[in-house]
Amino acid sequence: MKGIIFDLDGVLVFTDKFHYQAWKYVADELGAPFDETLNNRLRGVSRMESLEIILSNAALRLSKAEKERVAEQKNNSYRKLLQTLTPQAIDRDTRKTLNLLRERGLKLAIGSSSKNAPLILEKTGLAEFFDAVSDGNNITHSKPDPEVFLKAAEFLGLEPYDCTVVEDAKAGIDAAKAGGFTAIGIDDAAGYTKCDQVINRLSELVDLIWGVNYEYKNDSFTA
Ligand code: G6P
Ligand code: MG
Repeated sequence: MKGIIFDLDGVLVFTDKFHYQAWKYVADELGAPFDETLNNRLRGVSRMESLEIILSNAALRLSKAEKERVAEQKNNSYRKLLQTLTPQAIDRDTRKTLNLLRERGLKLAIGSSSKNAPLILEKTGLAEFFDAVSDGNNITHSKPDPEVFLKAAEFLGLEPYDCTVVEDAKAGIDAAKAGGFTAIGIDDAAGYTKCDQVINRLSELVDLIWGVNYEYKNDSFTA
């Protein structure tokens, strides 16, 4: 393996919770039901497709202009929440793992459907860890289409079979498999049968890749 492509929201940073809060606010205004189960279906899915899922679940119909207004309203509340992000939003386990993977010579990329990925990377200081960023601004089809990951591999100069994708979304695991990548599931995707491997926290990647029983304790890895 030569490269790892990380989803962003819900894998490296807890912005999935901000997506939930912003959609909940919009759904309440529309009188549409919204809960964690429905929110999980929106993981990895583009903003407008997410709104379509919420509307069809509530059997609500809106005009194109109304949909655009609602999607913009959701994005404005979401971006307000993003303004609160600082480098402290990235936990130590994540930071140390990214450092180790880089030290070991792996190429790292972001593969996210979000158009807000650049803002999140900047606010959290995560940008410095990555050789390439493929996000909602350079794709025409969001997950489960493999485009975002295929672009990430291309930006890294690697083939899909040389790369592993880490995802919390079932749509993201489907996208990775459709693109010919190895797919590692975490959090909501961990129970998904299409995952090649499952991890509970990011540092478990180190064990999976090098097959050594590494332990992350007191800020460092020991074999
Ligand atoms: C990620 C999230 C989705 C979100 C999508 C678009 O994939 O998991 O929940 O809908 O990005 O995000 P954006 O920031 O462009 O609205
Ligand atoms: Mg995600």
